[in-house]
Amino acid sequence: MLANKHILLVIGGGIAAYKSLDLIRRFRERGAKVTAVMTKAAAEFVTPLSVSALTGEKVFEDLFNLTDEAEMGHIELSRAADLIVVAPATADLMAKMAQGHANDLASNVLLATNKRVLIAPSMNVHMWTHPATQRNLATLEDDGVLMAGPNDGDMACGEYGPGRMAEPLEIVAAVEAGLGAGPLSGKHVLVTSGPTHEPIDPVRYIANRSSGAQGTAIARALAMLGADVTFVTGPADHPAPHGVKVVLVQTAQEMLEAVESALPADVAIFAAAVADWRAANAGDRKIKKDGSGPPRLEFAENPDILATVSKRKKGRPGLIVGFAAETDDVVAHATSKLETKGCDWIVANDVSPETGIMGGSENAITLIRQSGTDVWPRMTKDQVAARLAQMIAETLEGKK
Ligand code: C5P
Repeated sequence: MLANKHILLVIGGGIAAYKSLDLIRRFRERGAKVTAVMTKAAAEFVTPLSVSALTGEKVFEDLFNLTDEAEMGHIELSRAADLIVVAPATADLMAKMAQGHANDLASNVLLATNKRVLIAPSMNVHMWTHPATQRNLATLEDDGVLMAGPNDGDMACGEYGPGRMAEPLEIVAAVEAGLGAGPLSGKHVLVTSGPTHEPIDPVRYIANRSSGAQGTAIARALAMLGADVTFVTGPADHPAPHGVKVVLVQTAQEMLEAVESALPADVAIFAAAVADWRAANAGDRKIKKDGSGPPRLEFAENPDILATVSKRKKGRPGLIVGFAAETDDVVAHATSKLETKGCDWIVANDVSPETGIMGGSENAITLIRQSGTDVWPRMTKDQVAARLAQMIAETLEGKK
């Protein structure tokens, strides 16, 4: 809840500005007071009148406005709030923030504040992935700016990819977390993600097709609910989410070590696609074609990280979630995994090639718990993550 919290909402000039109207309503229904600052470009997308009607407050637009300065100076405006939210945070606003520009009211307020700032970036996928934006993002993160999104998805410009503004409720969750009011605040959650790479020699390895997309989305969703997340990841295609502690590993054995040193945790989610076997005779020199035929590879079994942690007598996380990626008899295999691995929940999914799930942006989940089996409709991996994080928060709440 955001009762008695004062949010200063900076609305940037992007098509996602229409979502900031809904965002204002979501803040207000949770008891927050919202004051809005709009850039000139923002007023091209939504009218100050709509914003003012929804905040119930005067909207601030100009740096050099005598009346505004008499009522509330821009420095006071930047400091009176508990948190500043920039939504949508356009590429231009992010660049101004990173560089410390102050040539309009929005950037001025962002420079003059002594409060935490949360940005919800929104822009075309190429603008988001452009090295300039990524440099600005890194600067802002170093400055301690909080983030909500951006999400992957269809964009107003007709393209697909990262750059879509987080949904209003995701931004609300990130704000609650930023103010220490998230349902998972104070909880340590461990997430494994990505594939592992098992070396054959210094240049070759055994791997699998996991992209790390689902694990990354889960870590992000948990952080947005305020959890203190340790994210142990193999070499994944997806960049690690913002606002989590990232531990990079290559092999299953390294992943187990990283997991054990990250304990204790309140919750552990094992979304990594860990290689079951490693080359037993991995050499430290490159294997050469010497004319004597192909080399013989001996395999050794990797540790089962999920089972090892689930069966710990001391320091077992209170809630352990495993994954079961199967191509046949998904529910039967996943249900037996709940027993053999000793975890509390299994998130089962069908990864047969025709589903397009492995490496894709959607997932179709069956959640298996002692209490029963729950089939979820097909949805994006971000939506799966948000739903799972919410269920985890409700389960911990119920255990209190
Ligand atoms: O046995 P299987 O690989 O199907 O089990 C999948 C679940 O077990 C996932 O949660 C995965 O992260 C975990 N696992 C593990 N260590 C392994 C193999 C799988 O933690 N060596």
